[in-house]
Amino acid sequence: MIISGKAKLAGVMGWPVGHSRSPRLHGFWLDRYGIDGAYVPLAVPPERMLDAVRALPALGLRGANVTVPHKEGVMAALDRIDPQARRIGAVNTIVVTEDGSLEGRNTDGFGFLANLEQGVPGWTASAGPVTVLGAGGASRAIVVALADAGAPEIRLVNRTRARAEALAAELGGPIRVLDWDDRARALDGAALLANTTTQGMVGQPALDIDLGRLPPEAVVTDIVYTPLITPLLAQAKERGNRAVDGLGMLLHQARPGFEAWFGVRPEVTDDLRAFVLESL
Ligand code: ATR
Repeated sequence: MIISGKAKLAGVMGWPVGHSRSPRLHGFWLDRYGIDGAYVPLAVPPERMLDAVRALPALGLRGANVTVPHKEGVMAALDRIDPQARRIGAVNTIVVTEDGSLEGRNTDGFGFLANLEQGVPGWTASAGPVTVLGAGGASRAIVVALADAGAPEIRLVNRTRARAEALAAELGGPIRVLDWDDRARALDGAALLANTTTQGMVGQPALDIDLGRLPPEAVVTDIVYTPLITPLLAQAKERGNRAVDGLGMLLHQARPGFEAWFGVRPEVTDDLRAFVLESL
């Protein structure tokens, strides 16, 4: 890859950042679309984070992704934060605007919805009640996106009920908190089941849930993508539900940033999926 003196620049800030798939993902698109640009890992320790973010315009970068542990703390360094990112309470994408100011967005919820739309053509959040398992950081982005997209009812089920209640109280809207022990009943009449817990990830036990009450037309998705087909998705497929894996959320959440920095709206294709899968 050869870049010119006019190359458009962006990167991902994290600490550590070595595990990030984003350089590989954006690098694929830069190559695919023949863009004179580069997307690099930026290893930024917590105590340098504010300096690093404020330096983006001075260095002429178009912006950056932000990952662990900076997603919340970075908000203090930004000039504007879009309403969805504000409600989620975290920023994963920074855009340096024409006048050099810093704008924060959160594209995780977009990634979640776009992945479902691609995996199940015609899917809409307003189709019926949704059941979300987990109330951590990933859940916040997904619950906000589902509420904004018109989900009529969001059943939030978390092992630690108090965490789900705090989230529901903060966000308002159509969220109903249910006990973890009632998770099987929370599937009655649901149009979507989304796992946002870490259960089912390599090295973790499978998510323990009986899908017996889930309607056959319901869609099941998992944010875990290692393995790609989690035990939950395998169980869903076996009983005939449509299943959408979590890799697509990772790929789709990257699209708005790429478009803002490099000027092309990129697509999530099978060859991109295969290319990123090779590195998992
Ligand atoms: P993230 O920011 O990636 O969502 P997190 O904030 O650590 O990660 O949240 C992990 C989620 O997985 C939480 O909802 C957690 O439930 P608790 O709030 O009760 O901790 C859930 N989780 C982790 N281990 C679990 C287990 N063994 N059974 C059920 N839920 C579990």
